[in-house]
Amino acid sequence: MNLPNELRTPALLQTLQLIANPTKFLETCAAKYGDTFTLRVLGLNSPPIVFFSHPQAISDCFAISEKELDFQKATHVFKPLFGENSIVFQKARSHNRQRQLLLPPMHGASLQNYGEVICQITKSVTKNWQVGTKFFMQQVMPDITLQIILQVVFGMNPRDERYQQLKVLLSSLLDDVTKPWYSSLFFFPSLQQDLGAWSPWGSYQIRQQKIDQLIYAEIHERHKINDNTHTDILNLLMLARDDNDQAMTDTELRDQLVSLLLLGYETTAAVLSWAFYLIHSHPKVKSRLMQELDTLGNSTNPEAITQLSYLTSICQETLRIYPIALICTPRMVKNKLEIAGNKFTSGTVLVPCIYLAHHRAETYPEPDKFQPERFSIQKFSPYEYLPFGGGYRGCIGAAFAMYEMKLVIATILSKFQLELVEHHSVKPVRRGITIIPHGGVQMVVTK
Ligand code: HEM
Repeated sequence: MNLPNELRTPALLQTLQLIANPTKFLETCAAKYGDTFTLRVLGLNSPPIVFFSHPQAISDCFAISEKELDFQKATHVFKPLFGENSIVFQKARSHNRQRQLLLPPMHGASLQNYGEVICQITKSVTKNWQVGTKFFMQQVMPDITLQIILQVVFGMNPRDERYQQLKVLLSSLLDDVTKPWYSSLFFFPSLQQDLGAWSPWGSYQIRQQKIDQLIYAEIHERHKINDNTHTDILNLLMLARDDNDQAMTDTELRDQLVSLLLLGYETTAAVLSWAFYLIHSHPKVKSRLMQELDTLGNSTNPEAITQLSYLTSICQETLRIYPIALICTPRMVKNKLEIAGNKFTSGTVLVPCIYLAHHRAETYPEPDKFQPERFSIQKFSPYEYLPFGGGYRGCIGAAFAMYEMKLVIATILSKFQLELVEHHSVKPVRRGITIIPHGGVQMVVTK
């Protein structure tokens, strides 16, 4: 099989470049080879991994029928984290069913149930800020987004002891699993050796068990209370029935909750940190945004906030420049198929590359410039602009994340005047499978 633009450097070197500085490595490959190229990455049994960033090729990838692909083989590394019942590992029918269950509470009118909670959490986390208070956005934002998930998705009460315990355990686990050496445990299964509490895999498993105990305790308590009036996502999942009128088992519920949590909290926190950095390093953007926020007057109605068009464009442009997930879910070819004029055989992994699609000069003139106006002037296709991926594997939390971002930004900027502590350009660094701002974006309250 002739692979398109296969890199000739050793797989080890490619892997190290991808781990050390993924955005730079992808940009270098695109500058040299264009929209399609092939990498080899160690630890994943080194199948060829073909990256695509041309909109037509991405559209073709999204259109490949699920029967022709093996998603599990390409994403199995996350099984110990999410659990095997997670939506991420489900195939065709079962996957479709889980999406049908999870999508409605994350979309449209359902979002309005969460607006007040999101604003309240933001106010409570920032309540002690005063003029001169300095903080790192990359520390404050995860606190806000984790609490949002615990209250909105799990429906937990912040005054419960279990909520507080889960909050501490989850943020420390997430902190660890996104560190480069710790995340290697998932990519290299041979490192998954439980050699007691002091070994990396042993300590990971102990923490995972403690978290599971708390989640199961919450599920058991809900079974006992049996209150159908709750609007949180755990309750909706507990009420759902499959074609045979069967409810989800507790293990299935646990796996879905952990997946939503891990996929939804770190991602939204990172993009919020980027948004605050970009807004405050572009004075004209900030001033136009503040004028728009002023039009709200004294209204703190979440729905009015989420309708603001310039705020929406800022969130879109932030996700264009720094799409937190650089790639869509990798797709492994089962037999053979053709994309963008190239024939691929069994075992090849196809990757629609979000980061490169968002930095194509043909689609976005001056792609490295932060210009929210692009989104008010032009409409981009789902294959040119895809921060949440697309097709039948697209992110189910997209609408929720956009809603959350706008409310958190507006709630903070309506109350505080902030400035960056250091005015230099911030580079993206990898954290787990996301990219976050280097240095954590230190800010100070000035008014
Ligand atoms: C700004 C924040 C977020 C970004 C940038 C993001 C991005 C993504 C991307 C790129 C994918 C892969 C899509 C594909 O392969 O086509 C994905 C999948 C997923 N995301 Fe998000 N996400 C965000 C927030 C959330 C939130 C808030 C939740 C839920 C609470 C969530 C839940 C999921 C789930 C469950 C999947 C797997 C869907 C499936 O396999 O069918 N995400 N996300």
